[in-house]
Amino acid sequence: MDKFLIKGGKALRGAVAISGAKNSALPAMAAALLTADKVVVRNVPKVRDLVTMSKLLAFMDAKVSVAAVPASDYEIQAPKLNHAEAPYELVRTMRASILTLGPLMARVGVARVSLPGGCAIGARPVDLHLKALEQMGRGRQLKGAHIVFEKITVTGTENILMAAALAEGETVLENAAREPEVTDLVGMLRKMGAEICGEGTSTLRIRGVKELHGTEHTVIPDRIEAGTFLIAGAITGGDLTIHNCMPAHLGAVIAKLQQARVRIDVVDATTARVRGAEKLVAADVTTEEYPGFATDMQAQYMALATQAEDTSVITETIFENRYLHASEMVRMGANISINGREAVVRGPAQLTGTTVQASDLRASAGLVLAGLVASGETLIDRVYHIDRGYEGIVEKLKAVGAHIERVHAPGS
Ligand code: EPZ
Repeated sequence: MDKFLIKGGKALRGAVAISGAKNSALPAMAAALLTADKVVVRNVPKVRDLVTMSKLLAFMDAKVSVAAVPASDYEIQAPKLNHAEAPYELVRTMRASILTLGPLMARVGVARVSLPGGCAIGARPVDLHLKALEQMGRGRQLKGAHIVFEKITVTGTENILMAAALAEGETVLENAAREPEVTDLVGMLRKMGAEICGEGTSTLRIRGVKELHGTEHTVIPDRIEAGTFLIAGAITGGDLTIHNCMPAHLGAVIAKLQQARVRIDVVDATTARVRGAEKLVAADVTTEEYPGFATDMQAQYMALATQAEDTSVITETIFENRYLHASEMVRMGANISINGREAVVRGPAQLTGTTVQASDLRASAGLVLAGLVASGETLIDRVYHIDRGYEGIVEKLKAVGAHIERVHAPGS
């Protein structure tokens, strides 16, 4: 298993370009199953989850090809779906495989998608996806329904959007997710001929159509990668210009970092600049659905909080067990205590490099950030987690001055 070796203490300076959003590219690829025509998805990040999604689509007999240049352009065509099935071997490695359920139900009327199990960050059931699809009926033709989600679910909203696009009649989905990735999917489906309104609000209306057609779609920039680099600039006291991002999608993160006295300038609609604070100060954070502070930024923010003067209280409201990075940060010298959903971080603490274990994608990013500010060497084990969702993170960090290397384990 590969590891990252980081020598901390280097201020990051220069420019970074953000890749396409993993969590937009995944539903966009799944949406290609809704039509027999060719679909081109552009700005797909080169990360493992997208490779897994390609394998899954290929298993269903869709043709998936990646352009030589740029390698972020994917062409998908599914004239006939021969296996309306997502096997456990693939679902096991990527929970987002569940995103094929809605399109398969819409196109074929039946689907077998293995249930994803729990994962490091909590139980993560898919009961709401199933209940909503059940309301739309089974068999060859799904029917529009009035669905009220008990809880806001991002991929659940995406699944229902895709299923309802080809259902008979109108679907009204209340308490829908408002994440930019959902809005991006609506934009793509509309280009395929879907009739949807209400994106960005919590009520979506979808009038089903008989057929969808091919399209070309460029996925939005990854707001979590952008937020991670904002914190990388801030925590190292550096000066980073972040290109190809959408600061408009980072409102809660930017506001919180500014409260912690990080200097952030929104240069234009696709560029932000971050400069380290003279002195970081504590600011409490509660994770929420969009437009609140994203749970996917919580681990990275915790790394920053270890360096802030005074006590920061972090409250995780989305996932029940998303603090596995905290104990690793404590092993590096951080002062963090966890009590249920609350983490109390007392800073600033001098972090010292040691060997730590990555436990999930964003936890790994938090540990990389802690390693960048720690004295001495930090060795991060199990970085396959980070490879699931950050394109070229080692290369991007190196280009702005970080001392970070990927250590290839023998045989990997
Ligand atoms: C999406 O996961 C993202 N994944 C996650 O990204 C992200 O952390 C999460 O949304 C929250 O923003 C993709 O977009 C592919 P949810 P999703 O359904 O859709 C509960 C990353 O690191 N729930 O919005 O699976 C659930 O347990 C990640 O890129 C049910 O109870 O998350 C959680 O507590 C990981 N029943 C809450 O809702 C259900 O049927 C929100 O989860 C569905 C969800």
